[in-house]
Amino acid sequence: MTAVPTIRGLENPPIRRREVIDWVAEVAELTTPDQVVWCDGSQDEWDRLTKELVAAGTYTQLDPEKKPNSFYAASDPDDVARVEERTFICSVNEADAGVTNNWMDPAEMKATMTELYRGCMAGRTMYVIPFCMGPVKAEHPKLGVEISDSAYVVTSMHIMTRMGPEVAKRLDEGDTEWVPALHSVGAPLEPGQQDVKWPCNDTKYISHFPDTREIWSFGSGYGGNALLGKKCYSLRIASAMARDEGWLAEHMLILKLISPEEKAYYIAAAFPSACGKTNLAMLQPTIPGWRAETVGDDIAWMRFGGDGRLYAVNPEFGFFGVAPGTNWKTNPNAMRTIEHGNALFTNVALTDDGDVWWEGLEGDPQHLTAWTGDDWTPGSAKPAAHPNSRYTVPISQCPVVAPEWDDPQGVPISAILFGGRRKTTIPLVTESFDWQHGTFMGATMSSEMTAAAKGGKGQVRRDPMAMLPFLGYNVGDYFQHWVDVGKNADATKLPSIFYVNWFRRGEDNRFLWPGFGENSRVLKWIIERLEGKAAATETPIGHVPSADQIDTEGLSEPIEDIEASLRFDVDEWREELPLIEEWFAKIGEKLPTSMRDELDALKQRLDAS
Ligand code: GTP
Ligand code: MN
Ligand code: MN
Repeated sequence: MTAVPTIRGLENPPIRRREVIDWVAEVAELTTPDQVVWCDGSQDEWDRLTKELVAAGTYTQLDPEKKPNSFYAASDPDDVARVEERTFICSVNEADAGVTNNWMDPAEMKATMTELYRGCMAGRTMYVIPFCMGPVKAEHPKLGVEISDSAYVVTSMHIMTRMGPEVAKRLDEGDTEWVPALHSVGAPLEPGQQDVKWPCNDTKYISHFPDTREIWSFGSGYGGNALLGKKCYSLRIASAMARDEGWLAEHMLILKLISPEEKAYYIAAAFPSACGKTNLAMLQPTIPGWRAETVGDDIAWMRFGGDGRLYAVNPEFGFFGVAPGTNWKTNPNAMRTIEHGNALFTNVALTDDGDVWWEGLEGDPQHLTAWTGDDWTPGSAKPAAHPNSRYTVPISQCPVVAPEWDDPQGVPISAILFGGRRKTTIPLVTESFDWQHGTFMGATMSSEMTAAAKGGKGQVRRDPMAMLPFLGYNVGDYFQHWVDVGKNADATKLPSIFYVNWFRRGEDNRFLWPGFGENSRVLKWIIERLEGKAAATETPIGHVPSADQIDTEGLSEPIEDIEASLRFDVDEWREELPLIEEWFAKIGEKLPTSMRDELDALKQRLDAS
């Protein structure tokens, strides 16, 4: 197909790649924008779009003295989080989507969405955003092109992905794979119609076509639904790529820990949304001599290197962090990253002097503009910031970013952590017996739901490897893939797997473990286990340290609390078994026999204890 030159900007694309140019023309013809803008990721583009967004009322510029080059946006009150019930995996075979995903036949979904997209960009600009997930210099760069009618999306993509001439060059190399990612807020404008600050649509679809590696998103402007390089590409589509190519695309932070002997260890950790990945990724250790650096805070792509070790790359270029609870005590490095500026804030509260505030931040504001636009005072019943409000900021600004964060080779992983938010049952840390047992820990992990997704807050649900909302294929096949990755590897070079829980509570509902920087004590124990230096107690669920087997020196918490946080409780675990049974029954015939075997073995060990 050739371009229809009636839409301004469609001609003279800055790239030569034919399939991209044809696809852009096809989408423009369907969605009928006023003009097409090819994005280049430049500072000029940022300046122009942020200025336009301020003029449109979408962005408020913060006081440059306080937050240089930074902007605030409040979304539509109904467009504040990922919409899991509107997220679809449209594999050709329904069985490939599996029991944890919404499925629709790809042809049917495309037919439905094509009608939604028809004319949906009328009165708007269609932006074409070539981007790359992971280093552009990688041997096989993971390229994508997002089409979006939201300038908020373009500016966010500037921070969260690699954009610019290098990306265009790699697209033009001809045979490099690229993922088309189509996004519209679904809010066409009549001629002369006044736009709203945050256009979106009550009808939302976040659709993935794993067989053809395509993403179609409609109706939402919120991060996880609209910045298609992130969850949609780097987890849902990439997990299907990883299944086919023998690697892992995971919802994991990547942390570098340096011991007092100056030895570096890399740790990957999977926790569900709003359960502490960004916090741990920027950890400031409290124990003397230990240092931590950040490689990634949300997503890890892991493949085996020539030396047989598992190497992790962070596909992202920025942090999209939960704001509430972030402060100089819980996450000083996130605060320093933000202070640098060049940040976007969504659904936090605005101070009267042009700064941002959220629950948990230092300061004692007497008046704010809440994320809803309402006046807020300390007596207000509702929070000033939405619980899922976020900051978007370049990773390169992080004061403890690891120098190798942008290395296409990635970093060799020594330990993998799984963890959820559980008031009971799950000890502070447990070491698995081996890879398969560790896979079982990940497969059965569970967490109380948070504000990061709509609905169900506080309920315990199984969230395998923290990937429940992000799996691009059948969860049973995914477990088998994990087992196979271990089987095909040299067992002596595989990372050790641990299960952690920072969120266990005492009788009066207080956290038993102080968490945050003090989590370095748990990491120290983990590293010393790898080195064969730390002791542990064997229990039916794995190796658990007692309070005297971890470094508690200088902790102000009563030792009883630490002991309680580490306790293996056979009765709590007996109560957990039927929940795991129920989960495995739900997975059905695709559940690997090895996972069933692990459950049987756990039961036997519990019976014998
Ligand atoms: P996504 O970015 O949505 O994937 O989530 P995340 O895993 O990065 O979550 P984040 O690090 O932003 O966690 C935010 C929530 O976890 C806040 O409520 C924090 O206070 C809480 N949190 C993080 N670490 C700890 C900890 O060690 N102990 C306790 N009690 N809370 C923690
Ligand atoms: Mn996440
Ligand atoms: Mn995070």
